Amino acid sequence: MTTPTLDIHLTADDLAAALRADVLRGLTAEPKWLPPKWFYDARGSELFERITELPEYYPTRTERALLGRVAPEIARAAPDTEVLVELGSGSSEKTRLLLSALSEGALKTYVPQDVSVTALTAAATQIAVEFPRIAVHGVVSDFTDTLHALPRGGRRMIAFLGGTLGNLTPGERAEFLAGVHEVLEPGESLLLGAGLVVGPEILVPAYDDAAGVTAEFNRNVLHVLNARLGADFEPERFAHLALWDPVNEWIEMRLTATADLTAHISALDLTVEFAAGEQLRTEISAKFRLSGLATELAAAGFTPHRNWTDPDARFALALAHRA
Ligand code: AVJ
Repeated sequence: MTTPTLDIHLTADDLAAALRADVLRGLTAEPKWLPPKWFYDARGSELFERITELPEYYPTRTERALLGRVAPEIARAAPDTEVLVELGSGSSEKTRLLLSALSEGALKTYVPQDVSVTALTAAATQIAVEFPRIAVHGVVSDFTDTLHALPRGGRRMIAFLGGTLGNLTPGERAEFLAGVHEVLEPGESLLLGAGLVVGPEILVPAYDDAAGVTAEFNRNVLHVLNARLGADFEPERFAHLALWDPVNEWIEMRLTATADLTAHISALDLTVEFAAGEQLRTEISAKFRLSGLATELAAAGFTPHRNWTDPDARFALALAHRA
C-alpha cells in the first residue's frame, strides 16, 4: 500500500472562528437557529453512528443496500472515472462498494474530503490498506466553501452520499450544486445520495426514535458550545422536537426550552435568553422527489443521467454528468 497523503485547508483556528460566527449569528436571530454541522464533535459523530443502527432510522441502511446492488451499474455509467472524490466522507463506510466497482475500470485515486481530520485520517488509512492499488489523497476542508481546493487531474466523479444534501436550504443547495458544476470539467460526473419524500409515519420516528438517541444527538450541539465556547447551557433542560414540514418537505429538528432559561457564552461575551417553550432550530433534513432532484441538477448545469431507488422508494442515488 502507499501511505495516504493529506491536504489541510481548514485549521483548528478556522473552525473555531467559523463556530463563533455561526453561533453569534444564529443565537441572536429571531427565531434562534444553529447550523447542523456543529453536531459532529467526537461524541456527536459517535451518536450519529448509533442513530444509523436504530430500527427507525432507515436512510443509512437503505442507501448501503442500494449502493451494494447498483454500484456496478453506476461504474458502467461512468466507465472512465479515474478519481473518486467523496464530499463529507466521514468513515467512508459505504464508499467501499463504489470503490470496488470503479476499480474494475479506470479508477486510480480516491479523494475523501471531510471537516474532521481525525475521521479522515482513520478512513484514509483504512481504505489505503484495503485498496492497495488505489492512491488515497485526503482533503480536510469545509465542502461548502473549498470545492476549488480539490485536486485536479484525471477524470473525476464527485460523490455526495448519505442525504447530507438535505441539510442545505434550497438556496444553499443551488449554490452548492453550481459550485460543484464549476469545478468539474465537461463529461465528469456527480453522484448524489438523497432521501426521498415518504409518509410522516416513517419520517418522524426516524428523527425521533424511541430510545432517545436522536434527542441526545440534538442536545449535543449545546455540549459542543459548552466545551468549545465556554458556554453554560444545561442541555437536559431542552427537549428534542422533530417536525415534518409538508410545505417545504423537510424534517426540522428543534430544541425547546422547558423553562425560562439563560445561557452565557464566554467566548462571545454573549448572554442568550430563552422563554419557556421557545424553540431553537438545529437542523433541516430535506427529502426529495426524483423530479425535483432532476430540476435542481439541470438548473445547476448538469445533465441528469439516471436514478436508482430502493424497492420502497425511500432513498435515491442520482448520477448526473457535467454538460
Ligand atoms: C447525516 C445529515 C444525513 O439528516 O438524516 C440524523 C443527520 N439528523 N438524525 C440526516 C441526522 C438526525 C442526517 N445526515
